[in-house]
Amino acid sequence: MSEGLIDADIRKAETLPSEFYTDEQHFSKQMERLSDSLQFVGHSSEFTSDLTPIPHLESILKQPLLRTNHESEKHLLSNVCTHRGMLLCQEKKNGKSIQCPYHGRTFDRDGTLKHMPGFENVENFPSASDNLPSLKLKEWFGFEFTSLDSSLKLETILEPIERRMNWWLNDLKLEHDTSRDRQWDIDANWILYVDNYLEGFHIPFVHPELNDALANDGYSTECFENAILQIGMANEGDVCFDIPNGSVDAEKRIAAYYWWIYPNMMMNIYPWGVSMNVIVPKGVNKTTVLFKSYVRNPELLNKGAGALLDKVELQDQTVVEGCMRGLQSKLYHRGRYSATHEKGVHHFHKKLTQ
Ligand code: FES
Ligand SMILES: [Fe+2]
Repeated sequence: MSEGLIDADIRKAETLPSEFYTDEQHFSKQMERLSDSLQFVGHSSEFTSDLTPIPHLESILKQPLLRTNHESEKHLLSNVCTHRGMLLCQEKKNGKSIQCPYHGRTFDRDGTLKHMPGFENVENFPSASDNLPSLKLKEWFGFEFTSLDSSLKLETILEPIERRMNWWLNDLKLEHDTSRDRQWDIDANWILYVDNYLEGFHIPFVHPELNDALANDGYSTECFENAILQIGMANEGDVCFDIPNGSVDAEKRIAAYYWWIYPNMMMNIYPWGVSMNVIVPKGVNKTTVLFKSYVRNPELLNKGAGALLDKVELQDQTVVEGCMRGLQSKLYHRGRYSATHEKGVHHFHKKLTQ
């Protein structure tokens, strides 16, 4: 419907109109888009319990879901009892089976109904519809994703990351560090948060400390169909990746690979490991952002560009919330892009309006 709203030529294009950020109907359409796209469940290192509810997916997909370990299998089950709809499990726990706290219906960890008290005389019971439905869990180097669109190809979406980072993905072992998890609640529309992430244009103005940690010549943006890569270069002497020959990045002093994955995920790869950010829209002007840290080299944790995450985040939130107030003005409707610095934002806006 909005096709053509963003000119494919960035030099001619105008930015996304303000109603995309402020209007409830636009917001509802965007939520449908999100539920049909790839969504992050978590990393296998964090699922140490038999049963783990995934609350952020309840906000994004409008489905309460439960990640289970069942022998050597993993499942992503509906967390809704097939009897009268009670939530089955509201916190992480261990247990051979899943028991509904309401009337005691019990399921195996693969979703099969095991037992239901008081149903002795019920006909055709149990049937397949008494089992818990599940969503496909798609795994990529330990990162687990899902979607309501089961035809979605995870491999195609993540292929640019795999091709670029194959040397880093080799032998990848990550551990979830809960002490570094963050949840940020922001008074702004989710698109503003993504827009801000997709350009380094604001770094000298908004993040003086990060600006000092990155080399001057150091910021590039590359667009792929469902992902955008921004690269930050390290200052001489600062921590950077050790990149083998054969990679297009060999001999570059890279401080961070910032990967955005359409539409609401960011996989920030630092020499210490990965900071995964999930943007959870809560309302047209309310957004929660989750940071999850998966550590590969703990000795590098407090060094370089990847050491400043909390400070940088608060600086970003100030500008994102400022834009949210500004966008409600009747005196503003849309702007123009910097053809040099805002290629990523332009690509995202084109995708959102396709
Ligand atoms: S709602 Fe679960 S057993 Fe009744
Ligand atoms: Fe920023």
